[in-house]
Amino acid sequence: MVNNFYSKEVIKHFNKPHNYGKIKNYDGLGKVGNMICGDEMWLYIKIGENKKNEEIIKDVKFETFGCVAAIATSSVVTDLVKGKTIEQALKVKKEDIVNVLGELPAIKLHCSVLAIDALSEAVYDYLSKKKAKIFKRLEERHQIIMNREVSHKH
Ligand code: FES
Repeated sequence: MVNNFYSKEVIKHFNKPHNYGKIKNYDGLGKVGNMICGDEMWLYIKIGENKKNEEIIKDVKFETFGCVAAIATSSVVTDLVKGKTIEQALKVKKEDIVNVLGELPAIKLHCSVLAIDALSEAVYDYLSKKKAKIFKRLEERHQIIMNREVSHKH
């Protein structure tokens, strides 16, 4: 399929998304949506440990009910965070996703934000379930995401 709106890399990830699907016995699930475009993204994480006994994202999968860019950015996020420690994973920014994809049309940049939000919500879910300390930056992001969802519902 040829498309002039999206880069080749976007189309590649859209046609064959990496890590698409569910993790049945997941440790954390992030569910986010954009009420304006209607797209929704669910991201599952499974936590393991590396040789230094640090917690890492051992496995990650996603389901996206959304546009071409939402699917491509979710696919890239899973590639970028798999095997990383939680702290490293939370440092991934939308610019990192766009770099992998070559470029994203300006009106599609919010799709990459959705992917980042889904990841941070999955980590938030994991840490809160095990009653672990939640870093300030993650708590702030969670509040912003929650407020956005509530304000769009009114
Ligand atoms: S158009 Fe909204 S996430 Fe892609």
